[in-house]
Amino acid sequence: MIAPSMLSADFARLADEADAVTGEPGAGADWLHIDVMDAHFVPNLTLGLPVVQSLLKATAVPLDCHLMIEDPDRWAPAYAEAGAYNVTVHVEAARDPVMLARDLRAAGARAGLSIKPGTPLEPYVEILRHYDTLLVMSVEPGFGGQSFIPEVLDKVRSARRLVDTGHLTLLVEIDGGINSDTIEAAAQAGVDCFVAGSAVYGADDPGRAVRALRDRVRTASPHRHWTGAEGAS
Ligand code: DX5
Ligand code: ZN
Repeated sequence: MIAPSMLSADFARLADEADAVTGEPGAGADWLHIDVMDAHFVPNLTLGLPVVQSLLKATAVPLDCHLMIEDPDRWAPAYAEAGAYNVTVHVEAARDPVMLARDLRAAGARAGLSIKPGTPLEPYVEILRHYDTLLVMSVEPGFGGQSFIPEVLDKVRSARRLVDTGHLTLLVEIDGGINSDTIEAAAQAGVDCFVAGSAVYGADDPGRAVRALRDRVRTASPHRHWTGAEGAS
């Protein structure tokens, strides 16, 4: 799955920018990745619930909301209630991630847990049993256009093993520095869903950039079966 990050889109034309990556099923964006930043958890400020609510009316592509905010226990469920398909919170910020996953699912969304590049995976494996997606950050959260940190692929491989052996049931998602040079290594490590911001919206033709990334994934992992979004349900 490919999830273009709208952080690199033109914020004055979000509906058009969503349309630019919407294609036939299996060709366009599977999800639209929306980066919510509060200038506290990360040193950047983007958009919040009102913009997400408007975007939900403007596109049929499922929204994948990545909340880089403090106190997600308080603020995240509203994104699920609004109709976001997947709502991801940071384990470094959540007070009670198990309860929060329950709240997100009860509000009708998939629950996602994200770990920053320096955050280990193992302490959170039991918590991840309550989640539908694991977002492995491959840059420090806060800004688009940074370089991919290859060391995080060890965590992707560990998560892949936990899923393939039945210990966890979730989609493994990666975010940060994904482009045509880095996506193959991520695919080989076992990523299911690739977030790409500057590689998609920095391209002349964002729709074509999505297709090119998908083609790279297919050549990198020809034997894997891609289940699609419903794989995590
Ligand atoms: C960064 C965000 C990413 C960002 C990725 O904190 O979480 O989603 O948009 O941008 P690129 O793909 O340019 O690294
Ligand atoms: Zn993100």
